[in-house]
Order: sequence, then C-alpha cells, then structure tokens
Amino acid sequence: MSIKANKNLITITTKNTSYQMKIDELGYLLHTWYGERIEDNEDMSYRISNMDRGFCGNPYETMDRSYSLDVLPQEYSTFGNGDYRADCIQVINPDGTNVVDLKYDSHKISKGKYELKGLPAFFWEKEEGESLKVNLIDKVSGIRVELLYGVLEKYDIITRSVRIVNTSDNVLKIKKALSACIDMLDGDFELVHFHGKHAMEREFERSPLAHGKLVLESKRGTSSHQQNPFVILAKKDTTEIYGECIGFALVYSGSFIIETEIDQVNQTRLVAGLHPEQFSYVLKAGDELVLPEAVFTYSNGGFEKITHSFHDAVRNNLQRGEFVHKHRPILINNWEATYFDFDADKIFDIALKAKSLGIEMLVMDDGWFGERYDDTKGLGDWYVNEKKLGSSLKELAKRINAIDMKLGIWFEPEMINEDTKLYREHPDFMIRVPNRKGTKGREQFVLDFTRKDVRDYIRDMMVKILDNANIEYIKWDMNRSLSAVYSSNLAAESMGEFHYRYVLGLYDLLNELTQKYPSIMFEGCSGGGGRYDLGMLYYHPQIWLSDDTDAIERLKIQYGSSFAYPIGSAGAHVSASPNHQTTRKTPFETRATVAMGGTFGYELDLNKVSKTEQKMVKAQVKDYLKYDELIHEGDYYRLTSPYDKSRVTAWQLLSKDKSLGLLSVVVQSVEANESNIYIYPRGLDENAYYKIAEEKRRGKVWMSGGLVLPRIKEEYESFRFEIKRV
Ligand code: DGJ
Repeated sequence: MSIKANKNLITITTKNTSYQMKIDELGYLLHTWYGERIEDNEDMSYRISNMDRGFCGNPYETMDRSYSLDVLPQEYSTFGNGDYRADCIQVINPDGTNVVDLKYDSHKISKGKYELKGLPAFFWEKEEGESLKVNLIDKVSGIRVELLYGVLEKYDIITRSVRIVNTSDNVLKIKKALSACIDMLDGDFELVHFHGKHAMEREFERSPLAHGKLVLESKRGTSSHQQNPFVILAKKDTTEIYGECIGFALVYSGSFIIETEIDQVNQTRLVAGLHPEQFSYVLKAGDELVLPEAVFTYSNGGFEKITHSFHDAVRNNLQRGEFVHKHRPILINNWEATYFDFDADKIFDIALKAKSLGIEMLVMDDGWFGERYDDTKGLGDWYVNEKKLGSSLKELAKRINAIDMKLGIWFEPEMINEDTKLYREHPDFMIRVPNRKGTKGREQFVLDFTRKDVRDYIRDMMVKILDNANIEYIKWDMNRSLSAVYSSNLAAESMGEFHYRYVLGLYDLLNELTQKYPSIMFEGCSGGGGRYDLGMLYYHPQIWLSDDTDAIERLKIQYGSSFAYPIGSAGAHVSASPNHQTTRKTPFETRATVAMGGTFGYELDLNKVSKTEQKMVKAQVKDYLKYDELIHEGDYYRLTSPYDKSRVTAWQLLSKDKSLGLLSVVVQSVEANESNIYIYPRGLDENAYYKIAEEKRRGKVWMSGGLVLPRIKEEYESFRFEIKRV
C-alpha cells in the first residue's frame, strides 16, 4: 500500500520517497513532508514551529497567535484566509467578495488511477499504483476542492490534479485555479528551468530563488518555445549525480504559470497550473472544473535520478499508442531539402535515393495542399493541390509504397490563412476580436478550436485525405502564438475560458484522430519545439524537437530537453551543411551522432550529397537500427554539459540489463597542444567486463578511470563508442 491514512496523517510512499500531509486541529490540510522515505506513522509535522509573528493573521477560531496560515506549509494555498503568499485558487463569490477558506472534509484511497475528463494524464492499472482524493470544502461559498493524487510507486512518481465543484446554488467565478502547490520548510533551493526562443528551445538555466517571486510562464496559448512547463527545485549543492532535488512538470500544452517564492521566514513555495491572467471560469451550481495534471518526483541522487524516473514513467505510463515501444520508421523529410518548391516527381526522387540508402519513410512537409505555394496562403484548405504535385496523393503514395517506403504528410490543422477557400466560406471560424484586425503570425491566424463545429469541419477534411491515400505518418504543426482571443460561442462573462477551452478542443481532436487511426504515427511540432510538453506527448510518440538542425546548437537543445522528456520522443534529423539556420559547417558523421540522440531521420536531398556521404548514410542507418531499442528504452546519462568549459559534450545510453550501451561524444571546441579528455561512463555493472573502443575493462575501472578520448582530428568531430558487456 503506497497511501496510508493514520489518524490525521496521510502518508504517500514510493520506492524511495515519502510525501505527507496532516489535517490539523483547525481542519486545515498542512503539507508536512516531501523527501526521503519515512515510515507512514512518522509524523513529520514536528519540523513546523509556530510563533507569534507580527502581521501574520490568525484564523478566527483559534486563540493561538502563533498559528498563521501565512507561514504554515499547505497542500493547496488559497486567497483570503491570511496567507499572502502565492495562492492556488481565487474565487469571486456572488456578493463580489473573494475569500476561499478550505477545510478538510473527507478522503478516499483507491487502487488504480483517477481519470481527468478531456485532459491528458498518466495512467496505470489497479495493481500498478494507487490514488487518493482529499475533499476540502469552503462551507460559506459552497466550493468543494477535490485534491487528487496518483502514486506510481516503482518510479517514485506522484501526480496531482484538482477538481473544483460548485455545491452552492449560486454562480461562482473562478479567477485562478492551479493544479498543485509544493511547500518546503526551508528556502535553500535554486530553480532549474528551461527557457528559449524559436529555433533554440529549452536552454538550461539555474537561478537562485529570492525573497519574492520568480515566475515562469507562457501566455501564448501554447506551452511555448520561451519557457517550458518543467522545472527542478534543487538544493544549492545538487549536481547531476548528487544531492536533493524535485522535478516538477505540468501535463498541459497551453498557457501556464509556475510561481516560486521564498517567504518571509525562508520557506519555499511552488505553485503551478493554468495561467490566471488568461483565465476565469464561470462555475454554475452543480458544475465542476477539472484542472490539468501536475507530476513530480523527488531525488536524492541529483538530476540524473529525476531524468530516469520521468523517462520511465512518461514512456510507460503517459505515452499511448502502438509506436511508443515499437520501431519508428527512419524518415526523410523534404522541408529543408525543397521548402515549398517541389512536385510529386521531386518528392519521389528524394524518396528513391533515400530508399537505396536504407531510409524507410518519406515525409512530404508543408506545401502539398490548397494554394500553398508559399507561407502566405493556403492553411485550412486541406485539399491536395494536384496541379502543383502533378499527381494525386493516392498515386504518389502508390509510387512510394511500390519502392517499399512509407509516406507521411504534414498538417497544420489549427490554422487558417485569409487567402483561402476556408476563410472565404467561413470567416467566423477564425479567432478575431470583433472590430479589431488582430495580430498576424507568419501571415496566419488561428482557428476557433473551442468550437466543436470548427473542429469537425477540419477533421472531415483531414479524414477525406487520410481515407483516400495510404498515409502512415502525420506531422502536426502549429506555427504561431495565440494573441487576442474571442469566440462567438462564448458569452462575454465566459470569454476567460477561451484559452483553456482551446486546449481542450485541441486535445479532443487529437484524441479522435489518434484513436481513429491507431496505425498512423503522429509527430507533434510547433515551429519545432514550441509545444514540447507532457500533454502533447500523451498523443504523439515523438515531437520535432527544434527548427534548429545545427548539430552543435542541438547539443544544448537536446541536453535541456533530456531532463524530463525521453530522448526517443525527440525528432532529430541530419540536415545539410552549411546549416540553413546558422551557416555552420559540421562533419556529416557528427550530424548523425547528434541525431541519434533522438528519433533519427534525415532532412536534406540525398541526391545532392557526395558518394562518400551516401555510403555514410547506409552505415548510419545500420547503426541506428542496431541501437534503436537502446535509444528508446534505455537509461540516459548526461556525462558532460554543453554549457561547461569542457571541450566535449558526451552522453550515454545503457540498456536496462546493463549489457549494451552507446556513448556519444561531440567535440565543441579545439585547442592547440591539447590535454587529454577523459569520459566517465556511468551505470555499468561494476564487476562485469565491458568492451569499449576495442578495449576490455571492468565496469568499475571504466567508470572511475574513464575512457581516454582519441586525439581530435578536426573541429566538431564526433565519436560513437559501443559499450558491450563481455
Ligand atoms: C515549422 C516546422 O517546424 C518545420 O519543420 C516545417 O514543417 C515548417 N513549419 C513548414 O511550414
């Protein structure tokens, strides 16, 4: 049993960790522990010491002036009861007041996992994990807050969500509703977070927390390139393999907020969920509101342990569909090979060459539909442009299948250009505030996915295409942020629901299509990694990691993304040199080494590379197929960081049984009169013998003595060493 209630204590236990809450004498639900595993009857509230502090209010029912919610650690902080720190919920009552005062009402422990209607969430069988529901009630407003917890014991994973129910006869307006609060009694944390921009996502940054707030957010309607809904709270001395830290993520793909704060007495709070600036929700009598899931894990073994727990849980208990644990075809995508300038023959030529080198699927990217000759028009007209292609899609699929290749195509279902049949016939499908022109992004606008009729219309067009040609892969792109939003379907007082309903609408369509076409492999994309989050990974086995295909820049992008997201979920391609985004020249083999740090593919015209490089493709494909399972199911180790002074970035994959590994090293900078570079593998069986680079040594020796990197022959050179137990 991983959840135990013992008098007024509720303790959640995983393999290595414990999480504890306590219903105190006033009925408030305090958070008393998250950390190393303890026994479930060990009351960790002894660590809380109250004192009479000035300007820290006390609940009316107590005479104890040392009791204040302003400093007590809580499971779900609220506004209006004397806690002035970051709150999780704000409600406007019918009389205009905004107090929420939540007291414990009841709880229930059950086997299996709770479900969140319409939202992506972790899942597991009854025997695999347990769930807890704690009901909190504000008797005056009639708000019931159901705190939901899920426990995946073997991976040290805890999930949380919240269901808010209006049990009153009044209409309530929810102004802020977050998914989780984590209160820690000490303030010795730093925040590791992942910021970025288009074509440079998830840059690692480690910032001290301060008295006051450090807020990470997206108001773009997507989880965004700029901030990612995954963070790590880390003790100051925590490193990759040492020390305490908590990894925290939202299973959500829209606007979000993560607020962190050190309070007046040096305690740390983190709250996270839907971005409140873009949210308000009218909750009628009897209605309920379900909030996105949050997931977290505690590690006393540095960041690496967080990564292993997240990777295992995501690929086994979040990602769905037949492709998660199955070989994903090595693809070639025509985007950087042709951009919009292609027809069916050109696509076929690319496919033909790729096939001769071992590649398994051709993906025809943007430009095959409507009047899509460039990026100013066509989005929303999902009809095959046979004039441009010089062929029907069915014919093209037949030609490609005839050479034993699969065909995939690109869609951007959420978008519309004004220069389209769709806009001319259904201008109201587009999000546009009345009397305002709005903001363009790449000349395009967003469709009102809060509306079912709009989603159905787009679905019907897509279905027609998918039912008429043998399409085995879809790249689902999304190339702008939402700005001013409006829906003719929402009353003025409900317009604050738009952003949330948009994401629910998107999930609804994704759900429908992935269920209808289980054998089509979906790859997510939002201008690369603008929506690289756990919500999207529920629907897509993989996501195109970034529009930056420069192998050296990708080292950082892949490094940052690897903290939470399984590396097999990262679409990674070998592209041309000089690189189209940075103009950097890199060796062909290095581009492959880096792309094998993800789900491997190509994105260039292989008819245009040298014969030697074509031969290299054959060998790379063979190599990738050899390590395919390792890359998708193995444990990932960040051996060095691309941000360190070290001249190389190195990472390692190791199979679960520790018998096979792949150690990859990329030289980032060269120097004269160079000193030795040692790479220290990790995770090997200490007493087993391993062969690396033709040398046989004991696991322990490799791990402590390291591998001496051969002399570097050129800038940006790379190495791939097999690790084989012998
Ligand atoms: C952005 C994607 O990230 C690219 O790979 C490509 O599909 C373009 N969109 C096409 O417009």
